[in-house]
Amino acid sequence: MRGRRSGLAVLFLAGLSTAACGRGKESSSPEKPAASVKTVPPYYYDLGSSTVDVSGYPERQKENYRFFLAVCGSCHTTARPLNAPYADRDDWRRYVRRMHFKMKGRGIQLDKADEDRLVDFLSYDSRARKMDKREAFEEQQKSLKELFETKSKNVDANRQGPR
Ligand code: HEC
Repeated sequence: MRGRRSGLAVLFLAGLSTAACGRGKESSSPEKPAASVKTVPPYYYDLGSSTVDVSGYPERQKENYRFFLAVCGSCHTTARPLNAPYADRDDWRRYVRRMHFKMKGRGIQLDKADEDRLVDFLSYDSRARKMDKREAFEEQQKSLKELFETKSKNVDANRQGPR
């Protein structure tokens, strides 16, 4: 299986860029302030960082991370899984399957090894950032929720404004 990895990823990405991204990404990117004032993404965890510093991770997890960015960032921001409250391996297995099901609807296939790599990365990263540093993570969750509420209120205020 190993040898086929990069080939599969390339095929997969080619498929995604033509088939899956018709509507473009939902974006919470900070370099688009105009959009972020008027729209609120569906989940508070979309508002966090879409990348992780993996410089201290093992090589295998660095590779898995690159695969993760490509696959899991193709429909929505990678901030969604990275800042979601989920951390257990079983949860990640379930979410990766659920996402894979959506991808299949667009003709994109992951094999078992691909799924495993994504679950491996998400579990490793969740342990490192969400479980081993639980307090910092909970603080971050709290501030993302507050930011989300503030943004939601601003949007409501705009909608209900006099003009
Ligand atoms: C084919 C498009 C697509 C791809 C690719 C995709 N997702 Fe999603 N994802 C969605 C949609 C649509 C939703 C919102 C609806 C839902 O949760 O079912 C979502 C929601 C989520 C959520 C929030 C669920 C919740 O209820 O809190 C997480 C976490 C998530 N995705 C993780 C991932 C991961 C991890 C990957 C890579 C394995 C991934 N997604 C790839 C379409 C996609």
